[in-house]
Amino acid sequence: MKINYPIGATPLDPDEIIGLIPQHLMIQDELNEWEEANILKAHLWLAQKNHPFSLHTNFCKQLHLQMFNETWQWAGKFRRSDKNIGIDWHHIQVSLHNLFQDIETQLQHQSFEPDEIAARFHHRLVLIHAFPNGNGRHARLMTDLFLKSQKAKPFSWGAISLTKMSKVRETYIQALRAADKHDHQPLLRFVRS
Ligand SMILES: Nc1ncnc2c1ncn2[C@@H]1O[C@H](COP(=O)(O)OP(=O)(O)OP(=O)(O)O)[C@@H](O)[C@H]1O
Ligand SMILES: [Mg+2]
Repeated sequence: MKINYPIGATPLDPDEIIGLIPQHLMIQDELNEWEEANILKAHLWLAQKNHPFSLHTNFCKQLHLQMFNETWQWAGKFRRSDKNIGIDWHHIQVSLHNLFQDIETQLQHQSFEPDEIAARFHHRLVLIHAFPNGNGRHARLMTDLFLKSQKAKPFSWGAISLTKMSKVRETYIQALRAADKHDHQPLLRFVRS
């Protein structure tokens, strides 16, 4: 099957495409739907487990596994190659660990407003880009679970699905690119739009 990539998506390597579990999918929309159904099951899993969120690499992997375990053989496993975005893959484990520790520290010291801690967390998580695919969706859900754990409302993320190409997705990607340059204001505005 041929995969079309919207703006800001990370192309898969050929060996990652081989890891596609459902063999009957012919077009991108079918893959999107399949992934959506898989992610819905992750929400059920979260509800059953009574929201087992923790700022830990094990939970981070477990969540990715639950979101994509019926879609990709490498679900829940960190990437083992470099992408056009993301850090050197050898540093993923340590960088995630540092990120989670930094967030704990920011919470203790109330370094920023709660929304800003969450938006910055989201940006750093997608910038690490721990998995071959699904990083955007996984990092948005991680961020919403983090907000819930702080008794805050989840973000609205532009109020439409960001998976397909749209003006809203473009605004989201532009906001992340501004954050790459240390301007977090566009992302802060976007996440509650
Ligand atoms: N310049 C950037 N800086 C930080 N993050 C970025 C940048 N460009 C893209 N991203 C993130 O990378 C994600 C795309 O990565 P990937 O394809 O692994 O995620 P996905 O869940 O499959 O896709 P999506 O969430 O976009 O539907 C985007 O959703 C966005 O969160
Ligand atoms: Mg993708």
